[in-house]
Amino acid sequence: MPNSNLRQLLTDEVRDLYHAEKQLIKALPKMAKAATSDELRQAFESHLEETERQVERLENVFEALGEPVKAKRCPGMEGIVEEGSELMGDDFDGAVLDAGLIAGAQRVEHYEIAAYGSIMAWAKTLGLDEVITLLEPTLEEEKAADEKLSMIAERSINQEAANGATEMDDESAGRRGGSRGRSNGRSTNSRSNGRSARSSGRSNGRKVR
Ligand SMILES: [Fe+2]
Repeated sequence: MPNSNLRQLLTDEVRDLYHAEKQLIKALPKMAKAATSDELRQAFESHLEETERQVERLENVFEALGEPVKAKRCPGMEGIVEEGSELMGDDFDGAVLDAGLIAGAQRVEHYEIAAYGSIMAWAKTLGLDEVITLLEPTLEEEKAADEKLSMIAERSINQEAANGATEMDDESAGRRGGSRGRSNGRSTNSRSNGRSARSSGRSNGRKVR
């Protein structure tokens, strides 16, 4: 039977987001572990803490709506998370991997910003003030997380990723003299996640394609 009830649609979307946020609670620790930049890792870890609170807020929204706490499968977030897993399985490392992780995380944030934005617009139309009050801090957190990721990427990681590529170009073009002393700028990476070893030796271990 067709359902023309906006409140029901809103409830469905809340269930969808509840499933989406729960998926992120599992995905964010993996992204934090894969990140080679300390700043990026910390950004993922602090967003994990926020996400845990966001799940609680959604449970409060169910209560405000007088609905049972129930998730509805969110294939949209499953797809974004799956793409992130694929990236982590690819052969990227260092700043390039970090740049890819940021791109994936920003897809997540944009998806959530759109979903929370729609829910809040409907809540406003329906006069569901409590829902708006509950979800306003979440929407702000998602926007702030997105901006922080842009800032991290633009301030350091994108350039470091590009420098790595430039360095590789220099090598494949042969020795030009005078340009051998460049470092790839990732000397602070001392974490033993199995990736850092590869980027520490300048002349061996680098794949030349
Ligand atoms: Fe979230």
